[in-house]
Amino acid sequence: MTAPAKTEERAITEEGDFLQIKSVDHVHFYVGNAKHAMYYWWKGFGFTPVAYSGLETGNRKSASYVLQAGNARFVVSAAYAPSSEIAAHHMVHGDGVKVIALEVDDVEKSWKETTSRGGKSAWTPREEKDADGIYRTSAIHTYGETLHVFVDRSDYKGVFAPTYRPIKNKVADSTGLAAVDHIVGNVQLGKMNEWVNFYHQVMGFRLLRHFDDKDISTEYSALMSKVVQNGNGRVKFPINEPAEGKRKSQIEEYLDYYLTPGAQHVALITKDIIGAVKKLRDNGIEFLRVPDTYYEVLPERIGKIAQDYKTIQELGILVDRDDEGYLLQIFTRPIQDRPTMFIEIIERHGSQSFGKGNFKALFESIELEQERRGNL
Ligand code: FE2
Repeated sequence: MTAPAKTEERAITEEGDFLQIKSVDHVHFYVGNAKHAMYYWWKGFGFTPVAYSGLETGNRKSASYVLQAGNARFVVSAAYAPSSEIAAHHMVHGDGVKVIALEVDDVEKSWKETTSRGGKSAWTPREEKDADGIYRTSAIHTYGETLHVFVDRSDYKGVFAPTYRPIKNKVADSTGLAAVDHIVGNVQLGKMNEWVNFYHQVMGFRLLRHFDDKDISTEYSALMSKVVQNGNGRVKFPINEPAEGKRKSQIEEYLDYYLTPGAQHVALITKDIIGAVKKLRDNGIEFLRVPDTYYEVLPERIGKIAQDYKTIQELGILVDRDDEGYLLQIFTRPIQDRPTMFIEIIERHGSQSFGKGNFKALFESIELEQERRGNL
């Protein structure tokens, strides 16, 4: 990324909503085996497979599946040939997020607004057409090899995009996941502010709140995090960088295995985290576990909540409170072999923050796992 050409006048805590992003359109994972990944999201997380693109649909490059849980839409793609850019990406990074797609009204305007402010183009505005209409996109680079694709579906009536055909014979047992709440990016030491500025200046986001390394550290390792948010508040991107510590930060471990900055976790929101976590556990999804001592002081720290503390503890769910309310959250273990990407499940009751109060307990739990991997 080059430095933004123009500096906006507005304060970093103010948005300049020139992109008018509606929401996260989809998250696109490049994986080693799309058929297996589809099965994992379907049977593990309760996403419904809704569309397929591959050799049978005239796509000679990749096998791709689209899966939906509420408004959360994931796409998984794998390459047919070693010369494919998907294969190249997979060889370097393993499974991971390639695209965070954003729904907009005007992909040309979005491309112009961002690239004129210093965003690096990935592709110029393009139209793909089939019998279902016109699917419009444009794209820019963000951290690492990750892209933001702008999507305009207003003239497209198909199931996802050209070359994709509906999947009708796969029914999912829903786990109650409703939408993408936030997507976190991990960047290198000293780069967090650069990327916060990128989202502010190039994309018109505003800085929401931030932690410093005193908040988010154990004795040995730490991270720093700032959150940027778009105009309507539906797109929230926390940005993490490692902080100096006696031991290896979890962010550094991620960077060592992903090899570049990239998406660390996608948080999926639900109205019933207890029901969701019960089902996800039954499906074999593995979660991080904080020490039981976490629960000893929890009712005192959080106060009254609608959920039963005993159930919360049994399931390993975390709770945090801020001025506006409280939230419940839980984090999976890495969802691929490399200790890189993971998933968060979150339920919000007024609170719009990210669980700052849980970071210390979580860090201790993550460090235990890092130790087991020989990466501390
Ligand atoms: Fe999160």
